[in-house]
Amino acid sequence: MIDADGKVLEIRLDFTDGLPEMEGFEPGIRRAPNRGQPLSESEIVLALKNALRYIPEKFHSEIAPEFLSEYRERGRIYGYRFRPAGKITGRPINEYKGCCVEGRAFQVMIDNNLDFAVALYPYELVTYGETGQVCQNWMQYLLIKKYLEVLTEDQTLVIQSGHPLGVFASKPDSPRVILTNGLMIGSFDSAEGFSRAAALGVANYGQMTAGGWMYIGPQGIVHGTYNTLLNAGRMKFGESAENVLGGKLFVSSGLGGMSGAQPKAAEIAGAVSIIAEVDSSRVETRHSQGWVSERTNDIAEAFAWADEARSSRQALSIAYEGNVVDLLRYALENGRHIDLLSDQTSCHAVYEGGYCPGGTSFEERTRLLERDPLEFRRRVDSSLHEHFELIKAHAAKGTYFFDYGNSFMKAVFDSGVREIAKNGRDTFDGFIFPSYVEDIMGPLLFDYGYGPFRWVCLSGDPADLRATDKAAMDCIDPSRRFQDHDNWAWIRDAEKNRLVVGTQARILYQDEEGRVRIALKFNEMVRRGQIGPVMLGRDHHDVSGTDSPFRETSNIKDGSNIMAEMAIHCFAGNCARGMSLAALHNGGGVGTGKAVNGGFGLVLDGSKRVDAVIRSSMSWDVISGVARRAWARNGHAMETANEFNARRDDCHITLPFVADDNYLEELVRK
Ligand SMILES: NC(=O)c1ccc[n+]([C@@H]2O[C@H](COP(=O)([O-])OP(=O)(O)OC[C@H]3O[C@@H](n4cnc5c(N)ncnc54)[C@H](O)[C@@H]3O)[C@@H](O)[C@H]2O)c1
Repeated sequence: MIDADGKVLEIRLDFTDGLPEMEGFEPGIRRAPNRGQPLSESEIVLALKNALRYIPEKFHSEIAPEFLSEYRERGRIYGYRFRPAGKITGRPINEYKGCCVEGRAFQVMIDNNLDFAVALYPYELVTYGETGQVCQNWMQYLLIKKYLEVLTEDQTLVIQSGHPLGVFASKPDSPRVILTNGLMIGSFDSAEGFSRAAALGVANYGQMTAGGWMYIGPQGIVHGTYNTLLNAGRMKFGESAENVLGGKLFVSSGLGGMSGAQPKAAEIAGAVSIIAEVDSSRVETRHSQGWVSERTNDIAEAFAWADEARSSRQALSIAYEGNVVDLLRYALENGRHIDLLSDQTSCHAVYEGGYCPGGTSFEERTRLLERDPLEFRRRVDSSLHEHFELIKAHAAKGTYFFDYGNSFMKAVFDSGVREIAKNGRDTFDGFIFPSYVEDIMGPLLFDYGYGPFRWVCLSGDPADLRATDKAAMDCIDPSRRFQDHDNWAWIRDAEKNRLVVGTQARILYQDEEGRVRIALKFNEMVRRGQIGPVMLGRDHHDVSGTDSPFRETSNIKDGSNIMAEMAIHCFAGNCARGMSLAALHNGGGVGTGKAVNGGFGLVLDGSKRVDAVIRSSMSWDVISGVARRAWARNGHAMETANEFNARRDDCHITLPFVADDNYLEELVRK
């Protein structure tokens, strides 16, 4: 690049004052465990050479030993020295440098993902989900920010697994950022392959909104969990009940990044919940934020509180500080009935610390991970066996268990329990328990196009959030469908429920029409100067953005749920239609090789250009998945596609003829 004076512009880290000082680590901030040592000696040399690409040669002898000890102690090179000192937080957009609104906006989003109050392991750039990182190391963080400061509306910044490859000429209607994380060649696409690539410094696990820069704290998942619980209740306890979860007990585990949403969502939905969590620092975080109302390390006390709340049909959330296996065993031995049961330990990274085995304290789990990973693995497997037996026993007594998209059932299967597979052999026919997407989210939300639409008021002004909440509510007709009613009630009470952690953000499940309508309304408000610029996005747990037979596409039954084409088409279509950011990742919430998932960001600057982008891209982002779901013969998706075909004269979805199962089964049997 050449600057205004004709000088070649070098975008590199600034070493004019030498290496930055090594800051200490603030006590009380959670740190990622050692990720293991998968590299041979020659590969360690390669990992060091890779990390040193960001640093001038004259500093190599000083910094290389430090990087080596980071690898030996942590299993990764994070470049701690390059982390800016003190707290990082998503500030108002006007406080950031930049040559276009998108360049400044993405800095807000990245910094929010690394906020001590938001991120799981902020020093290791992990936002949530045990391993979901913004980028791989602090050198990349600094370099990305430098690029975002100079990015113009005629350029696109390209990020490969956290590494900013460079900016390249494009046009205002192109994405400002194209970003991929952890996409691997098929034969290397495994947990082991990823772990080696990550240790070498060439692969980042983006999860969904961590590496896609769209995380909005646990609020993002509260709404999805609220919808899941309400619909699970409707399905199991009667459709028409008003307070469908009043007096019902929901039990689960995890008070981490996303799992921390469970008690809050259950309380908003009117249920009583007990959530087990082995890490007391996470119990403390969620309790002090008001996301869980009561805490105890005494199981009997937890059940006593729950009984009291159930009998008065009061909503109440309780954190049990301990292992979920102990909680379930106690409930079984003491005849405590559980209505709804799930699990949200990080089973997508089950042997990397995501699941703490029963009988092993959290501290011992961290020690074992570092010193005796084989013993840790053995304990995980044996705990998963017991966990499965306990769930089976509860289910036999009428408990409705559903997998919460954390690869729990896959982890149980991989630990050697063939019985959890429907065909007792492999996972092609799914599992004996439903996944929440298969039973609930898929048919009742995704197939209609409802998904996790969200926005961030980039001004940082709570008044902007209040104005957008109101405007969004006015765009919803609560009498159209029960989903619209749930979403309308959600946004009506959103401010009262104090959901904001980090930036002024909101999530609101919407279908294709709703998302377009609300986006256009917000852009008009920006144009009129009623609010500052807004970032629109979603997580990847949605209608179209993610292919994963273990979660998002688990209710696709035409055999195509092992294909990853929808996610890639969604990503490509979003690039073509001018989303400000388009992201594509491997793994998502279920683990490497088990999902391909993509997201987007769209900055509303009030322009007419953005109105046009909203009309084409927001619609595509949802309807492409409805089209695929309809072709898979999903009834509600066929209904939605039919309505879409009738409403639009510029688009058309191909619809299937539906064969008679009984006739075909009979034909084949003969
Ligand atoms: N709910 C959803 O819709 C949804 C969406 C995306 C992902 N997920 C999946 O849910 C999982 C959790 O996500 P997260 O961001 O909360 O991860 P996280 O790692 O931040 O939290 C998981 C928590 O479980 C705790 N834990 C582990 N083993 C335990 C045990 N045996 N008993 C009690 N507590 C235990 C851990 O200490 C941790 O705090 C991930 O696999 C994620 O991919 C769920």
